[in-house]
Amino acid sequence: MDATTRIEQALAAAIDTVAVPGCPPRLAEAVRHAVFPGGARVRPRLCLAVAAACGSRDYAAADAAGVAIELLHCASLVHDDLPCFDDSPLRRGVPSVHRAFGEPLAVLAGDALIILAFEHLARVLADSPERLAPLLLTISRSVGMPHGITAGQAWECEPQVTVEEYHRAKTGSLFTAATAAGALVAGADAEAWSVVGDKIGEAYQVADDLRDVAASAQEVGKPVGRDAVLNRPSAAGELGIDGAIARLRGLVTGAIDAIPACPGRDQFAEVLMAESRRIMPKDLAQRAA
Ligand code: IPE
Ligand code: IPE
Ligand code: MG
Ligand code: MG
Repeated sequence: MDATTRIEQALAAAIDTVAVPGCPPRLAEAVRHAVFPGGARVRPRLCLAVAAACGSRDYAAADAAGVAIELLHCASLVHDDLPCFDDSPLRRGVPSVHRAFGEPLAVLAGDALIILAFEHLARVLADSPERLAPLLLTISRSVGMPHGITAGQAWECEPQVTVEEYHRAKTGSLFTAATAAGALVAGADAEAWSVVGDKIGEAYQVADDLRDVAASAQEVGKPVGRDAVLNRPSAAGELGIDGAIARLRGLVTGAIDAIPACPGRDQFAEVLMAESRRIMPKDLAQRAA
């Protein structure tokens, strides 16, 4: 089974365990709306790719870590779109969760997804506590404080932050968790793989900032031009388009150089190159080539 099919099936199975008779039906619907149809699923694909590059055959553990990370990502989007944050009516080309279900259910759906992420991981790895504990630690750090997504979003409430610090916390942290978790599943060096995730995550947010200034809402399935309106620190705003493209390229090269020795090193480097082409806004792709 390919990675995308594994991820979709594992996500559906995780939600099926909690969206059962007796659950408030609209909460269950809001949670499904937040997860399906998905976006690029880049974080779980990264987690599975690292586990595979390191030679792991423990598909259940890799899938569980990937699912936890994607559920946390989906939760972060639901909360990020709320009127008190970015106030976005659109996500993945469809109405955001609060637009479709109202704010109370959007807050609760985000909360429920965060809990489900950890519940699912604990359930799948209940018989291997020695493997569960480091995964729980790695993944929880990436979404909490002082350096996880919660902190990243909280920087928006501070008078000053550097764009790098903001990007690393709000976006890089979960990418770092994705590569580290893939390594943990394989029994490989999680710290060395964290460096790769850190650089990919920052590159990913630089690309997102570029899309915000250079792509159409139709291309990205969410409103564009928001960073300037909301006065968010942005790589495109601070470095200009060419400067941000150069930064993106430097980060991708740095990520590839940082890939630890492993059986699937070359293939993994190709995945990163393909991913870096995919995330570039179409109109800028030639400029970056
Ligand atoms: C959007 O993430 C938020 C950022 C951190 C840039 P993605 O671009 O991965 O969103 P989906 O999951 O593909 O919709
Ligand atoms: C997203 O940052 C990071 C999250 C923690 C959700 P953005 O606010 O830039 O992402 P989009 O543009 O809404 O996807
Ligand atoms: Mg935001
Ligand atoms: Mg946003």
